[in-house]
Formats: sequence, C-alpha cells, structure tokens
Amino acid sequence: MSTQNIKISATAAANTTTTSATTPLTVGIDRISFATPHYYLNLEELAEHRGIDPNKFTIGIGQSEQSVPPNHQDIVTLAAQAAFPLLPYIDSNRLKMLIVGTESGVDASKSSALYVQNLLKLTPWVRSIEVKEACYGGTAALMMACDYVRAHAEKNPQVLVIAADIARYGLATPGEVTQGAGAVAMLVSANPHVLKINDDSVVKSADIQDFWRPVYQDTALARGKFSTEQYIQFFCEVWQKYCAQNDCNFSDFAGLCFHLPYTKMGLKALKAAMDSCANSCSDSCDNSNLSESSRNRLLSRYETSTKYSRRVGNIYTGSLYLGLLSLLELDEFTCENSDLTALKSGDKIGLFSYGSGAVGEFFSGTIAPGFRDALFAREHADMLDSRVHLSVADYEEMFESVAPYAPEDFESSTSCREGASFFLDDITSQERHYSAR
Ligand code: COA
Repeated sequence: MSTQNIKISATAAANTTTTSATTPLTVGIDRISFATPHYYLNLEELAEHRGIDPNKFTIGIGQSEQSVPPNHQDIVTLAAQAAFPLLPYIDSNRLKMLIVGTESGVDASKSSALYVQNLLKLTPWVRSIEVKEACYGGTAALMMACDYVRAHAEKNPQVLVIAADIARYGLATPGEVTQGAGAVAMLVSANPHVLKINDDSVVKSADIQDFWRPVYQDTALARGKFSTEQYIQFFCEVWQKYCAQNDCNFSDFAGLCFHLPYTKMGLKALKAAMDSCANSCSDSCDNSNLSESSRNRLLSRYETSTKYSRRVGNIYTGSLYLGLLSLLELDEFTCENSDLTALKSGDKIGLFSYGSGAVGEFFSGTIAPGFRDALFAREHADMLDSRVHLSVADYEEMFESVAPYAPEDFESSTSCREGASFFLDDITSQERHYSAR
C-alpha cells in the first residue's frame, strides 16, 4: 500500500502539507509526546535498601531511576497528560479514532479511551477503543491507525494512539527494579512530520506463558528468565524473516529501537542477532555483511534510545516508543561527542515490539523532513529534570496507597499533585471520577 500512488483530493489535503495527485501516500507519526509521574526513586538507593549490589540494577539490568505514580494517577490520567500537547494539532473534523494500548487498564469492560476522550474534550464523533496484548498493545494500535489512514486516504483522517501503562510487580520482588509509569501519545496521519511508518513489517504470534496478570490482581506474574529468552528468540526470528522479505540487513538502518522492559533487554537481543544468533536462535542469521561501522553505529544509537527508559523504567506498551523518542530527541547531542553524523530526513529506523504471551513484530520507519521541529524535546527534558526524588520509605508508602483492586470506595490524595493536569479523584460505588486542572 505504501508504494501505491493514491490520489488525495484538494479538500482532504487542505489541512495538511499540500500533496500532489501523483505523490505516493506516506503515513505515520505526525506528532509524539510522553508523560511520566512527577516522582522518582533512585535505584541505587533501592538496591542498598534491599541488600543488593547496586551494580546489578545499574549495570546488570541497566536501570538508574524509576518513575513512581501518586495514587491520583492511573493510565487514564497519564494517557491524557501525554496527549495534551498534541491538542493544537488535532482537527476535530479529521480525528476518527482514539486507541489506547494498555495492559494496566482500569476496567475489564469499558475502554479507558472514553475517559481520556472526555478529559481532553475531544469530539464525540470518534471511535474510542482500548487494545490489549501485553507490551505489544501500543504497536497493535499504531498499526491499526496506519491501516485506517491508508484505507481512508481520500478523507485525510487523523488517529490518536496512546500507549499507557503502570508496571507493578510488587515490593521486594525480582521485577521491582523493572517497574515504571508513563504514556506515549502519537498522532497518526498522512504526510507525517516525525516518522513515516513503512508497510514492511514481519509479525509472529505464539501462545506461551512468560508473563501475565490475572484480572483479579494489580501486579504482574512473570517467568523472568523464560520471558527474556522468548524475547530474544522472537527478535531473532522476525529479524531474519524481515531481512529475507525486504532484502536488507543491518547496514540499511541508521538505528534500531527495541521494546525496553529494562534497558539491558534490547541489547541482549541486538547482540544475539549481531553475533549470528549463535546462542539464541534456532537458525543462524546471515550477518556476514555486518561491518564494524554498522555494528558501532547501531550499538551507539541503541544506547541513545535507552536514555529516557533508564530514568523512567518500564512503561510496557509505551516502552518502544519512549525508546524512539529518546533516540530522536537526544541523538544530535550524542553525535556531538562521537564520529556519527546526526540523524537526518530519509534515515531508516528499525523498531522491534514484543508483548509477552507473545507477539513480536519488526517494522521500519523513515525519518521525515524537519522532524526535530515537530518534537517536544525541551518539554520532555524539563519534565524529567524537574521530578521530585522519593526516599525508599516514601516510595513504598506511595506504592501501597494505590486505588484498591476491590469494590471499596477510594479517595485519592490531594497532595503530590504538582506536575499533573489530570486526576483520578475518587472511586465511589465502583465508579471512577476524574477531573482536569
Ligand atoms: N554487578 C553487575 N551485574 C550483575 C550483578 C552485579 N553485582 N549481579 C547480577 N548482575 C547481572 C547478571 O549477571 C544478569 O546479567 P545477564 O542477564 O547479562 O546475565 C543481570 O544482572 C540480571 O541478574 P539476574 O540474576 O538474572 O536477575 P533476576 O533473577 O533478579 O531477574 C529480571 C531479572 C529482569 C528477569 C526480573 O527483574 C524480572 O523477572 N522482570 C520481569 C520480566 C521481564 O521484564 N521480562 C523481560 C521480557 S519482556
């Protein structure tokens, strides 16, 4: 579809970049923004408190800090917060879908997108839904959005995709170091200003039991080691198939972004594929053409893509896109101190999405002209730098004060509201009530 020449009528194209009748349709991320709580935990302090060598967390797992949500924040308020900066770019007449990808939804039936739609005062003439497949949900939503925009190109629609999650494993559990909270919002349309999503993906699904969360509890269950192995296996398989299907290899990519449950995870998969998947894949990959410069470029850009996640933690569905943001927004500064030339329009970025259970997908995006002007880099840096440091005791108290997973009335705290614009105020008679600042 992406290579097809599609005619866009003059009226439909009126609200976006002018498109001639013969220009191939490009579809992708027009704007992208993220939100994370205003509070964070230092993981070296957590390690010391738990009697663990801090190097295990900072080097072995690759996490330095973790955002901690106060009890007035859930995935609805984080989703609204992430999408708020995109409102000036949303045209009510063109917005046709609002899709929230999440695995920490607040209701087993009602879509969280409906609460978000209300908080953001979006048009009611929109399809508001939630999609779920563990950490893959954000990619499922993005793919649906791109397909919708391609299928209805003559109407020049917009789709708002939000990947929002709070990763909770429990206090003093092995997964505690890989918790986090946040949301990434993406406005999808034709003629995107940030990243064109290419129609080249390879996706694999298989029923496996590596990570899950039964509906009666708010903390996830994981077979940590098994899940790590499956992630690597899925990457090697979809990467091999992708390369064969699209006749390409590592040298075609300016950078690769991965789903990041913790920053060491993607690196394990990337190195496994680079080292011909010797220990992880059932078949060996053909990487004989991997030059030293490609290897160094991809490892360096991988590092840049992990900088935000290292500070925010795991945000499940949004993690891959937080990695993309980190790469796009920080690459220029990283390149100043290296031999690399900064990313530019036309560069190809590979993205690997993995959701336990499991679905793995590899696809590519092409950087749009002037992409830096369409980013919110300064705002994101300020958001991270202005967060408030919590002691381990304060983190534990905040963690345990969360809205109960039980039919009990709940009132959220009126303190710790700085840095947030949307709030879960209370749950009364099993109904959630939200407000905006
Ligand atoms: N200094 C440096 N590195 C250290 C260390 C130290 N003192 N102590 C341990 N490490 C390293 C280990 O060698 C290991 O590295 P490796 O994976 O490269 O071999 C790493 O730190 C983790 O140690 P490990 O003993 O495997 O940790 P764990 O048993 O506590 O499990 C997770 C870690 C991430 C698997 C666990 O947190 C988890 O279950 N997470 C949830 C599931 C998940 O995120 N799955 C990912 C796929 S989506």
